[in-house]
Amino acid sequence: MNPPLPEPELLLAWYDRHRRVLPWRDDSQPDPYRVWLSEVMLQQTTVAAVGPRYTRFLARFPDVHALARAEWAEVAEEWAGLGYYARARNLHAGAKALATRGFPRTMEALRAIPGIGPYTAAAVAAIAFQEPVVPADGNVERVTARVCRVEVPLPAAKKQLSALAQGWMAAPAARARPGDFAQALFDLGATICTPRNPTCALCPWRGGCVAQAAGVQAELPRKMPRAARPTRHGTHFLLQDARGLVLVRRRAETGLLGGMLEIPGTPWRAEAWTEAEALAHAPLTGLRWRALDGVARHGFTHFELRMALLATRLPGTAEVPGHAWMDLESARTAMPSVMHRLLALSGQDAAPRETGGAETEEPSR
Ligand code: ADE
Repeated sequence: MNPPLPEPELLLAWYDRHRRVLPWRDDSQPDPYRVWLSEVMLQQTTVAAVGPRYTRFLARFPDVHALARAEWAEVAEEWAGLGYYARARNLHAGAKALATRGFPRTMEALRAIPGIGPYTAAAVAAIAFQEPVVPADGNVERVTARVCRVEVPLPAAKKQLSALAQGWMAAPAARARPGDFAQALFDLGATICTPRNPTCALCPWRGGCVAQAAGVQAELPRKMPRAARPTRHGTHFLLQDARGLVLVRRRAETGLLGGMLEIPGTPWRAEAWTEAEALAHAPLTGLRWRALDGVARHGFTHFELRMALLATRLPGTAEVPGHAWMDLESARTAMPSVMHRLLALSGQDAAPRETGGAETEEPSR
């Protein structure tokens, strides 16, 4: 026999006692811009890593108008190290649309804003506007797969899990507090119903959890085996001039890391580059390059990158079309994590600026 259905009241009562204190939970009346920003950041980065970055971002772009007015280069700089730059682009594009028409108050209308997807629309609608919808992130999927004992593996089970979670919104207690109910599910998944070793003894929903009654909770949700990620290779060129400035360039506006600064290099391809092959892509010809020891690695969602670094110094300086000279610290601040990994090979690396920005990170724990 199945256990009784989980009761939203029990989860909300637990949330009232044990909710995490987080910077985006300050307000009794949540501001949609802040909710939106926090949700976008939390989609790729852990709660612990987001905290200070969220506060810093708000200090620089305090409202949707400030963000809409900003140049993309400023937004990219502020996002540096958080990964998934397409999200920052979407945020910026969304801000421009929202600054003129204001925040729509429903999930459906939020979905129509460029760059706002179904998860973000549901989260903003629930938390900022109290629409009775359940945003299904990884935490919510895990809680639901266990409570309802869904054995279908992810990602195939996504729709089913989202529909089951949405079913809890039928309860009057959940409908009375949609934003808190969503966040209670996030917190339950992050602190009790964790991927490994869930602490079921402390769970407000243990009486209603089908997986727990059967003792299979730690096995759920099941996951389809991931296809192995292919490897790509690149060779980059660390060129410093007599002033100690480094040569940088901006990546193409579209595509991976669109519009971000980088150390110039070869394209990233499946075969490793020989030094002779790579030199055809050097930003200046006729220089003697020194190969630095080691290979820098960075995991992107769809491939694993291995980078070699060649370095040299110019006796003077030079104009290099399509490139700019920058001091290393400013360049580093504006560059994505993949470039920090590369610069670490040079031995000129300051302390790493932050953790938690890898492109492959699981969201919001
Ligand atoms: N994960 C995604 N959104 C979240 C939120 N608002 N609070 C905590 N964790 C989250």
